[in-house]
Amino acid sequence: MKPWGGRFKGGTDPLLERFSASIDVDRQLYRQDIEGSKAHAGMLEKIGVLTYVEKKKILKGLDEIEKEITSGSFVFTAALEDIHMHIEARLIEKTGEAGKKLHTGRSRNDQVSLDMRLFLKEELCTIDRNLVGLLMALLMKAEKEKKVIMPGYTHLQRAQVVPFSHYLLGHYYALKRDRLRLEGALAMVDVLPLGSGALAGSTIPLDREWVRKKLGFSRISENSMDTVADRDFVVDALYAASVIMVHLSRLSEDLILFATQEFSFISLPDELCTGSSLMPHKKNPDALELIRGKTGRVLSDLFAMLTILKGLPFTYNRDLQEDKEPMFHAVRTVSDALSIMALCIEGLKTRKENMEKAAEESFMPAVEMAEYLTLKGMPFREAHGVAGAAVRLCEDEGKLLGDMPLKQLKELSPLFERDVFDYIKPRSALRMRRSVGSASFEGVMKVIDGEKKYLGL
Ligand code: ARG
Repeated sequence: MKPWGGRFKGGTDPLLERFSASIDVDRQLYRQDIEGSKAHAGMLEKIGVLTYVEKKKILKGLDEIEKEITSGSFVFTAALEDIHMHIEARLIEKTGEAGKKLHTGRSRNDQVSLDMRLFLKEELCTIDRNLVGLLMALLMKAEKEKKVIMPGYTHLQRAQVVPFSHYLLGHYYALKRDRLRLEGALAMVDVLPLGSGALAGSTIPLDREWVRKKLGFSRISENSMDTVADRDFVVDALYAASVIMVHLSRLSEDLILFATQEFSFISLPDELCTGSSLMPHKKNPDALELIRGKTGRVLSDLFAMLTILKGLPFTYNRDLQEDKEPMFHAVRTVSDALSIMALCIEGLKTRKENMEKAAEESFMPAVEMAEYLTLKGMPFREAHGVAGAAVRLCEDEGKLLGDMPLKQLKELSPLFERDVFDYIKPRSALRMRRSVGSASFEGVMKVIDGEKKYLGL
């Protein structure tokens, strides 16, 4: 069926009808479509295209349609390709002549951009709210576990001792940066496209400023051609979503490792794990694995959008219809993933003794040993060599640095005194680290207080 098929002899090939229908996807935009149409109708009345009575009929019709869709009684058909056509066709059924005037000065090209911008404005705020929820969970856990210590890793090898809270705050800060990316994306989204028409605006004297105010946008788009060709705002939202997912995926990977029997640093909440159909003992970290897996799909949403845009001639092309699936998928996934991760952080239990043991039973204090010598005047490169030699000796003899007799240490350097043993204890390092941003107990406490204020806690 061609609702405005005046130019065509026959109908559309049924295969194309099915191929080109987006209604199964874009019906999710019905609220935004109706909100946009109401604002457009209000403006058309203001400029004299609609009478007051016509506008009222349209607003009432749109309200009824919204109810029909929400209640499930609205009839969707593949013959009407998208949500815009469905709502307009139904409105005309209901209101006749008045409904036929609604599309004055408007094209689906600016309409679809409007709907997506309205949708993203709301969703980006939801994502930000969920992100703040996760930040709170991380901060609270960091405060609760502030005494717990663990090895920090590089190359997944024990590197230097850190407070577990410093580790959690590391992820906290990565995610906190994502708020700025969301804010940036929101600024790109927050622009009114309506009034650009198909690509060139209109001879009808549309009052775009009136519509902007009505719909609560900060700005009006500046060029009609750019406006209908533009999906940068979707790319920006998808990029923000992708970086969040990458952050969540890295955190997931850590937690999955920490929950293995090999590490045994944490145990995950039962509600977020599943069992095995065969192995009775299994407790699998499915929630975290799914966050990691779904990250792949959100990244592909971003690449899909960029690839769709890459070769498009200015301005609107039907290719753009493919923008919605990646947008809906990414937005939904990132929102849920953030909430699930917050539950995971809240519910995880630390196995302090194992973390502490891993920090104790390692050669990590070699760093502090080298710093000890450096503070006594030995050039750092030389001190690095001495501490390295101490590690080699310990390895040969199967002991730890703290077990070396002072006499043996003195053979490596006369600068060693008895106080070195205290200096290289893991907890001493955590008390003594000074530089801003260091992994230290004091640093962590300062940061927690500041971040509580930032989150309004
Ligand atoms: N369903 C279309 C989309 O999502 C709406 C715009 C259609 N415009 C057009 N000129 N065919 O992109």
